[in-house]
Amino acid sequence: MANQTNGQSPVHLLTKAEKYEILEAKNKEALQGGGERRIASQHKKGKLTARERLTLLLDEGTFEEIGKFVEHRATDFGLEKEVYLGDGVVTGYGEVNGRLVYVYSQDFTVFGGSLSETHAEKICKVMDLAMKNGAPIIGLNDSGGARIQEGVVSLGGYADIFYRNTLASGVVPQLSAIMGPCAGGAVYSPAITDFILMVENTSYMFVTGPNVVKTVTQEEVTAEELGGASTHSTKSGVTHFSSANEVQCITDIKELLSYMPQNCEEDAPIYEYELGDETKKELNDIIPDNPNQPYDMREVIDGVVDDNSFKEVHKNFAENIVVGFARLGGRSIGIVGNQPASMAGVLDIDASVKGARFVRFCDSFNIPLLVLEDVPGFLPGTDQEWNAIITNGAKLLYAFSEATVPRVTVITRKAYGGAYDVMNSKHIGADMNYAWPSAEIAVMGAKGAAEIIFKREIAEAEDSESKLQEKVDEYTSKFANPYRAARRGFIDEVITPENTRIKLIRAFKMLENKVDTLPKKKHGNIPL
Ligand code: HXC
Repeated sequence: MANQTNGQSPVHLLTKAEKYEILEAKNKEALQGGGERRIASQHKKGKLTARERLTLLLDEGTFEEIGKFVEHRATDFGLEKEVYLGDGVVTGYGEVNGRLVYVYSQDFTVFGGSLSETHAEKICKVMDLAMKNGAPIIGLNDSGGARIQEGVVSLGGYADIFYRNTLASGVVPQLSAIMGPCAGGAVYSPAITDFILMVENTSYMFVTGPNVVKTVTQEEVTAEELGGASTHSTKSGVTHFSSANEVQCITDIKELLSYMPQNCEEDAPIYEYELGDETKKELNDIIPDNPNQPYDMREVIDGVVDDNSFKEVHKNFAENIVVGFARLGGRSIGIVGNQPASMAGVLDIDASVKGARFVRFCDSFNIPLLVLEDVPGFLPGTDQEWNAIITNGAKLLYAFSEATVPRVTVITRKAYGGAYDVMNSKHIGADMNYAWPSAEIAVMGAKGAAEIIFKREIAEAEDSESKLQEKVDEYTSKFANPYRAARRGFIDEVITPENTRIKLIRAFKMLENKVDTLPKKKHGNIPL
């Protein structure tokens, strides 16, 4: 098809007008993708086409396409007779809210969006441009995987993408939306990127599909159960967002980008904000009188950050920790908060990994970190120990320790044991550490502590129950407060909840020019 001239004379004998007609015809043909029948079938499945998605994503009139007339070079299995301009992926650049982004959008109507050698080359080209020019890469994935007819060159194409994903990691933000199938090795490009967004009911991700699963393990499972958005947003944590439909998914991408800089050398955009009375009386009422009663850390977040600015990441996965972006006085911050409303906010494997990955993203892209701490410790038990809570908990510790962005902690209630150290303590490099008067900073809870250190005294007492209570009260009055830590300077100031917002705005402003570097090294060795 490439060299056709619509049945006219060879190109060099054509008039200028005829040459323009050829271009117009080619442009029209490229827009057709795999043709009307397949576009209709895509719509029937409740899915948009690759180009419709880009129209939604990019500011009007900003899309510039690259490689529109690229064709595959395959000749096996009659492929030479089936050629589509663009070869199943629309690539280029454009703007989202006035900021440059590089995009690729796979076209399921062309060979099921499968990845050929040339399809991969097109993606690599925009990735290379994105890295050199320092702007985010957004991939809209909808693909049957490797172009089966092409064999190893398709696999090579995937590897070329994985390699670039890895090189681009920490240089420019990389976002992957999954808007259709994503199977086999194809899942590993999104997995290396910073954020994955999946569309409910029309997308799935798995390394091996239901048929292979049945053959190997005899398990019967649907594609949705195995790798749909609900599975990956709750059970595996593979996806960071589960969007109700494609339009919502694209809105989520745009919102996410608004908190991020273009690349690792820049800061996130600053939104205009005029300081007024920043007192937040409602924060005073959140912590219950009973120290064991749960509350929702999101209420604290909402009270502290700019109105409606919190964008939660990984909302339904490892709910005992809350992470997400927000703005404080117009500036982007990343928030990591223990969540007393889920498993008392205890740190377990999933929560540690979730928190660590988020901390590392923020640190890579100069987004200051706020930690809201109410943690009773690490989760005990064989399940956790045998699945390596030691290694996984260490990830969070490592991630905070190596972060050089401004880091501020507010202890709202419990800061017990190793979790006190891990959750952005002064000792591992936090810049400012605050505590509310309700804070309890201790090696462990008062009852557990009393039972251990006064074991004999309690056992020998005439009334063991009241002896235990007496010792619990003694331990509580000594340690279940923030003042011991404040006396040592581990806490910079004990503040009231209502003043927290203004304190944080000032602290982050004070820290905005922070310069901190790690010892010279090739790279660290985070406990994977
Ligand atoms: C070439 C493909 C294709 C592929 C689909 N098509 N997948 N062509 N290579 N991988 C074509 C179909 O022939 C069909 O062409 C069109 O795309 C739409 O496919 P349908 O099957 O009709 O669509 P649907 O029923 O929606 O099913 C979609 C699907 C299914 C679930 C993705 O097509 C499928 O299972 N495809 C194969 C998936 C797969 O095993 N891929 C390889 C994974 S291994 P027409 O002409 O009819 O429109 C892998 C290795 C990567 O990816 C390793 C990297 C390290």
